[in-house]
Amino acid sequence: MHPMLTTAIKAARKAGTIINRAALDLDRLTVHTKKDRDYVSEVDQTAEQVIIETLLEAYPSHGILAEETGARPAVEGQTDEYQWIIDPLDGTTNFLHGLPQYSVSIALKHKGQISQAVVYDPANNELYTASRGRGAFLNDRRLRVTKRDKLEDCLVGTGFPFREFSHVEAYINMFRDVMRRTSGIRRPGSAALDLAYVAAGRYDAFWEIGLNPWDLAAGSLLVQEAGGLVGDLAGNESWLETGNILAANPKIFSLMVQTLQPHLSPDLRS
Ligand code: IPD
Ligand code: CA
Ligand code: CA
Repeated sequence: MHPMLTTAIKAARKAGTIINRAALDLDRLTVHTKKDRDYVSEVDQTAEQVIIETLLEAYPSHGILAEETGARPAVEGQTDEYQWIIDPLDGTTNFLHGLPQYSVSIALKHKGQISQAVVYDPANNELYTASRGRGAFLNDRRLRVTKRDKLEDCLVGTGFPFREFSHVEAYINMFRDVMRRTSGIRRPGSAALDLAYVAAGRYDAFWEIGLNPWDLAAGSLLVQEAGGLVGDLAGNESWLETGNILAANPKIFSLMVQTLQPHLSPDLRS
């Protein structure tokens, strides 16, 4: 296993221990509101600190992009060769409600490409990992995306807009067409885990609008290394910058693009 992946797993497991312990007594948590419907608890913050400490202890010259503390270049004013992209708790709303569907997401970007990925589901002790060119795994099991080729047979994951509503009409139109053409839609509430589920063959596809790099950096490598395709909603490459993402098995990727594309306003087209 790549040593940087080993370090990322160690960091994710430490964060998972913090999250699991806090989940036993949610009433004691201090919660702040960042923006409307955007909550952060001391767990998000403590888990992030522990992840960053673990990564920087092993790799002090690496840069960091983390949800709660932002970007921290290894050397001020320089672009990092290595940058860790971290969501310490993806699915905070679920976590705060005691709904056990959340994850820790850690990715390493090397020279502009995601090269290592960990998504850890601490409630179910499911560890998803990938190294570029080496495949994706759930615990010790190699992952492959599904082989379904008819949309009507497919189960599709998504995330609803809930903080920012400028694309809500476009989203509802997409939702209606995906609902009509597939076996069903699910919205569990952790984008990193949703992507891991595409890699694991639990869904055939996933799409969401307006995510951040820390929601999707690790999960996208899992999908690619499990043989799936990742793009923006028009099927192009801008997903890490725009946060608009479609992930699917290769047999239905273009069918999903055809379903979503008619509803893309100009700013959703790239
Ligand atoms: C959120 C989750 C959710 C998605 C949101 C994300 P957070 O992350 O991934 O599934 O729909 O867009 O922001 O805020 O819980 O880390
Ligand atoms: Ca997130
Ligand atoms: Ca988060």
